[in-house]
Amino acid sequence: MAQQLSPAALVIFGITGDLARRKLLPALYHLAAEDLLPQGFEVIGVTRSGTTVESLVGSIREFVTGTDHAVNEEALSRLGEKITVLTMDLAKTEEYARLKAALDEHEERVGVCTNRLFYLAVPSQTFGDIAERLGAGGLTEGCKHRVGESRLLIEKPFGYDLTSARELIEVLSQQFTEQQIYRVDHYLAKETAQNILTFRFNNPLFQAVWDSHTINAIQITAAESLGIEGRVAFYEQTGALRDLIQSHLLQLLALVTMERPESMTSDVIHARKLELLQSIAPIAPDKVAKQAVRGQYDGYHDEVQNHSSVSETYAALRLEINTPRWQHVPVLIRTGKALAEKVTEITLCFTDRETNHQNTLTLRIQPNEGISIELQAKKPGFDAETERVQMDFCYASLGSAHPDAYERVLVDALRGDKTLFATSDEVLAAWEVVEHVVHAWGMSGDGLESYDKGSWGPAAAERLAEGAGVAWVSEHLKVCQAYHHEEPTKSNN
Ligand code: BG6
Repeated sequence: MAQQLSPAALVIFGITGDLARRKLLPALYHLAAEDLLPQGFEVIGVTRSGTTVESLVGSIREFVTGTDHAVNEEALSRLGEKITVLTMDLAKTEEYARLKAALDEHEERVGVCTNRLFYLAVPSQTFGDIAERLGAGGLTEGCKHRVGESRLLIEKPFGYDLTSARELIEVLSQQFTEQQIYRVDHYLAKETAQNILTFRFNNPLFQAVWDSHTINAIQITAAESLGIEGRVAFYEQTGALRDLIQSHLLQLLALVTMERPESMTSDVIHARKLELLQSIAPIAPDKVAKQAVRGQYDGYHDEVQNHSSVSETYAALRLEINTPRWQHVPVLIRTGKALAEKVTEITLCFTDRETNHQNTLTLRIQPNEGISIELQAKKPGFDAETERVQMDFCYASLGSAHPDAYERVLVDALRGDKTLFATSDEVLAAWEVVEHVVHAWGMSGDGLESYDKGSWGPAAAERLAEGAGVAWVSEHLKVCQAYHHEEPTKSNN
């Protein structure tokens, strides 16, 4: 695959930040170890405070030792040779000339025109300013000979509500075309999320039952056992709804409920996803109290040293999709920090309306990745009793490790494949769904329930599920338990 990738320069703004340290640099190391980085590849790490290549290499070594237990020193040193550090003040337009000079020099060295990727691993409030300065510095046009492409990679949340998202899209569009902007949603790049479409559309067994005739509810859970892990400033202004539901979880919902794409090309998949997101009924202002639940774990106030904080560390929604396929099927989505365990899964609940017999089909995104079906079976013996049994397919049984989401993000950005990135229209459609909830929750702390760390969240979320005629499955379902592995000791970004 490395051969398919054109020479490129990857500029990481915020090279000393958490995202670069915990995700981007380890992903680059793994790609180097697999020999998947292209010829003529270079990383320019931009920092305000200054660092050295040795220090970056040291932090990769430390991180990888903690996750993989062994480090491929040869690959690490090969990666180190590709990294340079540029200390600059991002707020000064004139400093971008130095970045341009560094990129031009890289091209001279490589002897070809390269693609230029600008990864903004910095707070989202700075995206607009940096994009403008890249524009003013002549950096949005690709390489010196204008053959390579400039690409802008940004991380969610894209805006903090519908209006600000529109503004951000407008500001960025003055410098970069939609084609050049890669909105990273790393959940889309998870191997198991990519398998959703394959599972749905390559298995006739399930295609026939994938609608409201047999499915009576859809549940999506993204529970985390860790708290906010020191990300106070970020979390205080973001909260669970913006952090996970508006982005990752609505994207997963789109994959699981969209209509069949006529082809598996990026444009068609995005078109089907967009149709779906636009057909989710936005929660109306007078339905917020009924369809949305929020909570905050005990001890959060002390942790953020803000006793009046109303930031939710837990959010659950009940949604409906207005398409013939999903009419009247309740969709329950929840996420939270400091919960009983780390688990992301999507469950489709099947109920026979006459007999009330039930099955569930669970797509386990992480950990213990797999697919699990709960069936009714006859209990062995003379009586006609039934019991619930579970049938699992576990990815681990396939034996081969799959790439981390950020490896996939980087490779796809390098090769210019936008399938797994969010489009501006998808982002806006997702904000529309939660817009009134965002505003209502921003206005007052009414209904913010506290919950114990290590629990499954506020009691109101149980009632939300009961109202939809189901119970959350993650509380009892253990998928691919034999392959259970522990959550890392720190959060991701
Ligand atoms: C990020 C959120 O997008 O996803 C974090 O900002 C969250 O708050 C993380 O912890 C979870 O990612 P993953 O891949 O560990 O599920």
